[in-house]
Amino acid sequence: MTNLTPLINSSLSKELHATIYLLGYLAQRESFKVFAVGGFVRDLLLGKENRDLDLVVDRSATEYAKHVAKILPGRLQCFERFGTAKLILSRGIIFDLVTARQEFYAGPGALPDIERSSLKNDLYRRDFTINTMACALNPEKFGRLYDYFGGREDLERGIIRILYNLSFVDDPLRIIRAIRFEQRFDFIIEEDTYLMLRKAIANRMLEKVSKERLYNEIRLVFKEPSPLKILIRLNELQLFKDIFPRLEFNGQLKERLLLLEKRIAEPAESGLEGNCNYFILYLSALFYDLSEHDTAYLCHLMRLKRKERLALFAILKKVPEAISKIKQASVSPAQLYFLLHELPKEGLALMTVLERDPHLCEQISYFKQELACRRPLITGKDLLEKGLKPGPAFNRVLKSLYEAVLDGKVAGKEEELAFVTFLIKKNKICEEAGEGDN
Ligand code: CTP
Repeated sequence: MTNLTPLINSSLSKELHATIYLLGYLAQRESFKVFAVGGFVRDLLLGKENRDLDLVVDRSATEYAKHVAKILPGRLQCFERFGTAKLILSRGIIFDLVTARQEFYAGPGALPDIERSSLKNDLYRRDFTINTMACALNPEKFGRLYDYFGGREDLERGIIRILYNLSFVDDPLRIIRAIRFEQRFDFIIEEDTYLMLRKAIANRMLEKVSKERLYNEIRLVFKEPSPLKILIRLNELQLFKDIFPRLEFNGQLKERLLLLEKRIAEPAESGLEGNCNYFILYLSALFYDLSEHDTAYLCHLMRLKRKERLALFAILKKVPEAISKIKQASVSPAQLYFLLHELPKEGLALMTVLERDPHLCEQISYFKQELACRRPLITGKDLLEKGLKPGPAFNRVLKSLYEAVLDGKVAGKEEELAFVTFLIKKNKICEEAGEGDN
């Protein structure tokens, strides 16, 4: 019988390591039995850390989760009706807890077989053999691997295999998951599984899934190391056009995405910031040639949040304009600032992908390094103190001041105040001469 303790000790960060020991200890103290299952065990065997833990609990998972939350504070959500809970700790550790269908111990002295059949039942309902392994966390059996369906062998051989023929019918999203894992790990979809997958595609099983669930699964594609590989595979399997109607997966689009992935792989050189939203970045590259109407349609279909839609539309509208203006003529620092300052950072990243023109790239990095945080020392409050009333003239003075500061024409508070005094005077003269705001 395999025990994963050595792997747990060597592959996990100190924090996660201590956390899972604690989970086992708490289970023992409160008389629960707890197993880590699915992706955590799969990744552990691959020597990788997965901070998203799926836990199967013998009795009420919600009750156990409440005990855990007392010791490991985080955001706890309990779904009593379904016997599930979610606990989100700080620093990206997430527990998804489910109650096993059948109690592991039906009563005192019940046979350990009940425990096995219940866990086995739970694991059998899962997607692929590589995701059906469990690891005991209670101290008495800590680290013991439960592998009922040959998951470890499939993992070692690099095979994606369903557990039963109707798996893709039961949950058509597994079609996309199979492709995701195939491409993420460079695995092969086993022959019979592939036949079932093709059959499910031919029978248009994905149409039976709600759009919310479908596009939540599609979001996960953009968290993978290479979404492009997955999109290519979806296209080969005739799924791309159903998932992204009105979008043509042509050579130009592929080229753009390839460049994007190259840039993402070398963030230091491409100036991509760590907190870039890759979902928005990929969508803006995907939708770049679409009409506004088709983009709006896809945003609705994909159930994008308002904030995401706004960012995407801002990028798709402003990027082409900014590119053509910056390339066309020499723009002043202030003009450059006003072209780029309202653009979401994903838009700046997209510009460097779309245009390899060195001048444009220089201008973008000049904006990011020099201009983005350059601003006047005096504020609107100083203008109010100088007697200027809020209104169009006020805004004009403030904008002129901004431009002068960005263009380096004035520097320091004194020069700024002198500049503003001059503008206010000039403004008054204009008003007296009838060239006011109206
Ligand atoms: N699962 C399933 N069918 C699905 C989704 C999930 O059977 N449609 C099961 C799998 O056993 C999976 C577990 O639920 O391992 C947890 O799902 P999830 O967190 O989405 O998957 P992970 O395997 O952890 O994958 P990832 O590495 O992408 O997080």
